[in-house]
Amino acid sequence: MANRVYFFDTTLRDGEQSPGATMNQQEKLRLAHQLEVLGVDIMEAGFPASSQGDFDSVRQIAEQAGDIQVAGLCRCMDGDIDRCWEAVKHARHPRIHTFLSTSPLHMKYKLRKDPEIVLQMIEAGVRRCASYTDNVEFSAEDASRSDRDFLCRVTELAIRSGATTINLPDTVGYAQPDEFADLIRYVIEHTPNADKAVFSVHCHNDLGLAVANTLAALRVGARQAEVTISGIGERAGNASLEEVAMALRVRQDYYGLEHGIQTEQLYPSCRLLSMTIGQPIPSNKAIVGANAFAHESGIHQDGMLKNRETYEIMTPQSVGRTSTNLVIGKHSGRNAVRNKFEELGYKLSEEQLQTVFEAVKNLADLKKTLHDDDLMALVQEEIYRIPDRFRLRHVSVQSSDAGGVPPTAAVLMDVDGIECSRAGFGVGPVDAIFNVIADMVGREPELEQYAINSITSGTDALGEVTVRIRENGHTAVGRGAHPDILVASARAYVNALNHLAKKEKEGERLHCQHAEQ
Ligand code: KIV
Ligand code: ZN
Repeated sequence: MANRVYFFDTTLRDGEQSPGATMNQQEKLRLAHQLEVLGVDIMEAGFPASSQGDFDSVRQIAEQAGDIQVAGLCRCMDGDIDRCWEAVKHARHPRIHTFLSTSPLHMKYKLRKDPEIVLQMIEAGVRRCASYTDNVEFSAEDASRSDRDFLCRVTELAIRSGATTINLPDTVGYAQPDEFADLIRYVIEHTPNADKAVFSVHCHNDLGLAVANTLAALRVGARQAEVTISGIGERAGNASLEEVAMALRVRQDYYGLEHGIQTEQLYPSCRLLSMTIGQPIPSNKAIVGANAFAHESGIHQDGMLKNRETYEIMTPQSVGRTSTNLVIGKHSGRNAVRNKFEELGYKLSEEQLQTVFEAVKNLADLKKTLHDDDLMALVQEEIYRIPDRFRLRHVSVQSSDAGGVPPTAAVLMDVDGIECSRAGFGVGPVDAIFNVIADMVGREPELEQYAINSITSGTDALGEVTVRIRENGHTAVGRGAHPDILVASARAYVNALNHLAKKEKEGERLHCQHAEQ
């Protein structure tokens, strides 16, 4: 279908390269499942050669995937390609995505290779991929800063060697929409075998133009958009899936293009990602931010009452912003809880179900009705946490505005399986908690960021705290949720310390953009 756009989601690969967005295996599996529900055509599950952890999670995602295509990224090198195939081959529809830089700058300084050698590497690499599968994507890294005619030679060669998708990335977010559209049109028109491949774009957001550049390229013949949920990704991120999908849907009259994204799943997908990586959705974020459908001014409100279309170009329902739905409460039975989690896309074992069931009951004692977001936060807390070196048992805090009586925290926790308790002071209650916990685990991390957000509305809502800490050159993000925001703070801090400890143990993983070719 000439007017069908394929959505290639790279949240689990490029998205995971964004600072603080690291996910564990279970979290990746949950998100992968959601990408299928969302109607993504191809998901890039990771970069298998970068670490054993990445290999395992790509393999597991491939094994569990349904009809969605599962891609793995690899450099144009035999070892990487073989490893990638080993991981993705378990999918019903596997894809190998290989890449090599083609700009003069990258070839000279990053690869230290002559263009003719680069062409030979592309030919050999793509041929090797094609020996495994006929679903091969080749990316010309830094395409937007490459010589146009060289790019045509690269494209022609990659297609001749077996690539069925050609991706032309704006790797550093440098391109401008008209200029980028012109480049894509030029390559399509000047590559003799262009009709044998799908053209794709992958735009970064360094100048805030990732979505605009993606749409401009689709207008002139690209038919695959590489995007991420909420636009997360390396540096300023990638083109955001929800914005590209809704621009094509709302302005179908302009683009004349179709896609298979179930737009009602956009908000649930962004919300799931936000909970998983502990980064709140900014309130002014297009499509999914809290203010995206809020009308503040009197004139706008008046217009809306007369006819919604005066100020609303899409409905909240069309992007899945329904008023939060039913609801588990104190009296819900085990089956209702199981069904609800299944409906939300979580496959829980009996043991996990028991754990969340108890947590649901405890939370329902504090809060009358639990919404979907509460339940998602709960699974995140109870099931998806990485195995903890440090485990918080209880925290008690004394706050005070009387001079000379500093806020005090007392903490009971397990440190490497040994129960210990300690008390201490701070400038404020959060400072007191963090001081005590840091002291107990024998660390002095710098707190780079502390954010608090309420998961639903109402004063009895769960508070969601996210912290980012740094020590010895490693950063880690932690997240905690609880109706008491000080408990949520303590949980978030302990969670970050666990991530930090894990990171130090594994060493920083190899990310493709830093990798030597
Ligand atoms: O930004 C980029 O060029 C990439 C490629 C590996 C596709 O992420
Ligand atoms: Zn990228």
